[in-house]
Amino acid sequence: MNNQNPIIAALDVPDAARALALAEQLAPAVGAFKIGKELFVAEGPDIVRRVRDTGASVFLDLKFHDIPNTVAKAVASAARLDVQMLTVHASGGTQMLRAAQAAADEAANTPLILGVTVLTSMDKSDLEELGIQKNPADQVQHLATLATAAGLKGLVCSPMEIAPLRKILPDDIQLITPGIRPAGTDTGDQKRIMTPAEAIEAGASWLVIGRPICAAKNPRAGAEAILESLAGLAK
Ligand code: C5P
Repeated sequence: MNNQNPIIAALDVPDAARALALAEQLAPAVGAFKIGKELFVAEGPDIVRRVRDTGASVFLDLKFHDIPNTVAKAVASAARLDVQMLTVHASGGTQMLRAAQAAADEAANTPLILGVTVLTSMDKSDLEELGIQKNPADQVQHLATLATAAGLKGLVCSPMEIAPLRKILPDDIQLITPGIRPAGTDTGDQKRIMTPAEAIEAGASWLVIGRPICAAKNPRAGAEAILESLAGLAK
């Protein structure tokens, strides 16, 4: 999976019919599709197979967090579905992260395992409630270092975290960021946003984009306009 086209369209819809219609329409204009909990819980692994059958790459965003053996088995199952990326919570700890990466490495088609650091919905007081005294930015760096030391080659982070993480991480670590809004579009509930071009210039490898594409009147045109805005930018 290469990121010649770094747009990952989030198929945030509740059923297979809508997901497949969107995937068919968007396939030529995006680099991959993200399948998250809403769609996966409704439709099961079959929706992953059906999107893969269109030839598209799939990012399975189920954010695994469990004991190492269970996460390893879940990663192996996801790899058998031939997904190209999947998420685990970095806060599952080194043993869990190593088990996840080992299961991916053993698979016939190794997916990129992405560590989720601190959910962007959490602020300092949410961390304090969990007994974590660091501020979110420092906790993100702490968990990013932990995850990459455990062998992960990718992380999910907010656009604001890309530049600080690029300073401390090896160059080959892939950074995937949501919170992307093309200039002049509705921000919805995303607060700390960047435009696609700003995020790529800051060092993002991939952009997860949901509503600006999928809720557009013409999703294909929305994706093409974003791709056009990235023309000529270094990745
Ligand atoms: O519609 P929007 O572009 O905001 O969608 C972004 C996608 O990325 C959604 O699937 C959302 O769940 C996901 N996401 C996010 N923020 C995170 C992690 C994931 O918006 N921190």
